[in-house]
Amino acid sequence: MSADYERHSSSQKTIGQTVIESIVDVAQKELGQFEELKVLDLACGPGNLTIELKQALKSALPQTLIELTGLDYTEENVNRLVNNSNGEIQGVVASFYDPFKLESQDIITSNEGLHWQPPSEMSEIIYSQLPPEERERYESWALNHFKTALKNVHNSLKKGGVAVLQFGHEGQLQNLWDLIRDTLCEAQFEGYKSQVNFPLYYPTEKNIEFLLSEVGFTKIKVDAFNQDLTEETSESITEFLEAFTKPGFSTFFKPGDLNDFYSRINAKLTRLKIDDFRKDQWHRTLIKATVAR
Ligand SMILES: C[S@@+](CC[C@H](N)C(=O)[O-])C[C@H]1O[C@@H](n2cnc3c(N)ncnc32)[C@H](O)[C@@H]1O
Repeated sequence: MSADYERHSSSQKTIGQTVIESIVDVAQKELGQFEELKVLDLACGPGNLTIELKQALKSALPQTLIELTGLDYTEENVNRLVNNSNGEIQGVVASFYDPFKLESQDIITSNEGLHWQPPSEMSEIIYSQLPPEERERYESWALNHFKTALKNVHNSLKKGGVAVLQFGHEGQLQNLWDLIRDTLCEAQFEGYKSQVNFPLYYPTEKNIEFLLSEVGFTKIKVDAFNQDLTEETSESITEFLEAFTKPGFSTFFKPGDLNDFYSRINAKLTRLKIDDFRKDQWHRTLIKATVAR
């Protein structure tokens, strides 16, 4: 993930602060006295939030040794985290769909990561736009992966350990996905459409609660709520989109077409009622779930 992502991901960072507060709260109120606290941050991205988490835990628990690890399958992200933390935070390059080689964690957390699926072929840019049969197949495939990730989280926590997870639930960012798809259907860009694919899955609240319990968690609390996009103007929404799509898109778009694509998105946004476009687009899911003692 690029430096651009760090600059233009304020929506991600806002919810990240809520996740950090929840983790500190769990550590202070639920885990009791300890000399050492092992915390794992899954899909840590470039690690800016992981570093903030370490600082927050250190100031809340000055007597405790905080052993924090960030895991992400993008090596560039993990290297950035390790370097920016001056080696204080460990980094692991791995997928959360494989069992983690880390055991007995006190807390496992993840922000805006667990809705990413492994790469997949599909006839639209995101599963929510697929025709019903293809969508049903995708959803059941994705639900299985989601369960695997939750099981891996459960298995790497110690008894009494707590998962504090945040990711999107059903319907997240739908206005943005539809805008991208509509723009890719225009003559100048339609040749690229088949190469654009976001392997995401936003489970329903019901599925989330069911699967957490299926993999063995107890004391499950799922707080699902919506928030507007933090970005308030067509330019800042375009920059946000650019930050998370450009590294991938630039591998197959001609540079001139890619610039035109973002200009076109921006132009369309300027003609929309921006407050309606932003409204309730983040479908946040803040979860706290415990491994039985
Ligand atoms: C939207 S970013 C979130 C980064 C960070 N947690 C934050 O809130 O800023 C999603 C991250 O998930 C990572 N990711 C996606 N699928 C993954 C997988 N299967 N295993 C590990 N990391 C994954 C990506 O590399 C990316 O860094």
